[in-house]
Amino acid sequence: MSPAAPKRNFPPPLDNPAGKSLTDEGEVPEIEDSPRLGDTHEEPTDPGLSARPGVKAAPPRVVMPASALPFPGSAPPAPTVSPQQRPPLPQSQILPQAQTLPAHHRMPDFGPLAPLMRDPNITEVMINDVRNVMVEKEGRMSYSGLTLSTIDEVNRIVRNVLDVSGRVLSPESPYVDLALADGSRVNIVGPPITTAGPCVTIRKFPRRHTAEELIARGTLSQRMAYFLNACVVSKANILISGGTGSGKTTLMNAMIGLIPKGERIVSIEDTPELLVSQENSVRMQTRPASATSSAITSTHLVANALRMRPDRILIGECRGAEALDMLQAMNTGHEGSMTTIHANTPRDALMRVETLCMMAGYELPIKAIRQQIVRALDLVIQVQRFRSGHRRVTAISELTGMETEMITMQDIFVFEPDPADPTGAKGRFKTLGLVPRILERIHDHGIDIPNNYFG
Ligand SMILES: Nc1ncnc2c1ncn2[C@@H]1O[C@H](COP(=O)(O)OP(=O)(O)O)[C@@H](O)[C@H]1O
Ligand SMILES: [Mg+2]
Repeated sequence: MSPAAPKRNFPPPLDNPAGKSLTDEGEVPEIEDSPRLGDTHEEPTDPGLSARPGVKAAPPRVVMPASALPFPGSAPPAPTVSPQQRPPLPQSQILPQAQTLPAHHRMPDFGPLAPLMRDPNITEVMINDVRNVMVEKEGRMSYSGLTLSTIDEVNRIVRNVLDVSGRVLSPESPYVDLALADGSRVNIVGPPITTAGPCVTIRKFPRRHTAEELIARGTLSQRMAYFLNACVVSKANILISGGTGSGKTTLMNAMIGLIPKGERIVSIEDTPELLVSQENSVRMQTRPASATSSAITSTHLVANALRMRPDRILIGECRGAEALDMLQAMNTGHEGSMTTIHANTPRDALMRVETLCMMAGYELPIKAIRQQIVRALDLVIQVQRFRSGHRRVTAISELTGMETEMITMQDIFVFEPDPADPTGAKGRFKTLGLVPRILERIHDHGIDIPNNYFG
């Protein structure tokens, strides 16, 4: 990092105009719509919580100025454009032009399901059977309230989807997985695997949730988002961990939006769901083996990515031997890389990385793998989906080093659930009073976060 980098005040100077001690809560001026430094950082995750009887009133909600995230220099907000749609076609143009476009660029006619497909708040549509069409809306699964009149109607939708994608569903090959022109993913399973006609699961192409939107949804606090913004700009290597559907990719996409423009990004994924709008970016997708060609895996693509002069490498999900290549890339000048992993705690996430590294088959001693992990990774962000449908960042943990053969970690932020809430989704985000080691790198990048930001 160039020493000449201008120091950026963090958060904006408004918070501490007189340069007063930030540890002294009483001295911090109260300014509406800006965060208070030196507060205890107990931010409510749900504004409704304080309204419930017997629940301690939450501190007033603080809203950052709109320009706060991302920092100046980050990429402009991304239009949600799937890779199949380049150059992008406005949604309104796709359907009228359908007849003139090649079949795989057309969207199928969803018949009675069309309103569900159009609703931007619906993220998944699932046809279990004729009377049973489910949707996921705002992270919650529910009945759509829509019934199809006969099995023929289901079959018609299935036929339309298969027609535009040129795929076949037959008793010999009773399931297909395909991508639509707008990037949505469709899985269809038919008889004899299913007993009540075809079952269709449509996962709509995600739109980008900005960091502000995730804050507004209570997924993380402003303070956490600011810290993560600083980490992204300072090129921390980040692992996002969580269960299926916990919001890993959504959070990663919001963080990709915080990468400064001008940096060269190479992304690698199995299914296209990363939203990289920065101009200097290349996306690559793995390919399963077919009758005529062998598989191209993430491992191959990470190796190739290293020859493409990337500043950062983004891997949609780490689930195989590419974990080791990813760590090596992170250790060799590609800081600022990110990926997601399926695990339930930050500690589990590291164990999973270890296991995946072993799949590379080099018979590296466990200590050597752990050393690679510690040198490569800076942060693990844990996300969780709660029964209420809320997604929360439940921990932001930092790797701090190794003691004997064990990796040491410290939590910087955690989510503390309210014991009175049966879903466990209500609670507070807390700092644990630990100053992260990464702060030094953040300072080197010209971003000024005071130590007492962390409680
Ligand atoms: N913070 C969030 N709040 C509400 N819904 C979310 C949030 N993050 C993700 N979702 C929804 O959850 C579903 C799964 O999200 P995704 O990021 O793909 O999860 P994962 O990558 O962990 O499998 C999507 O339908 C998405 O719209
Ligand atoms: Mg994902």
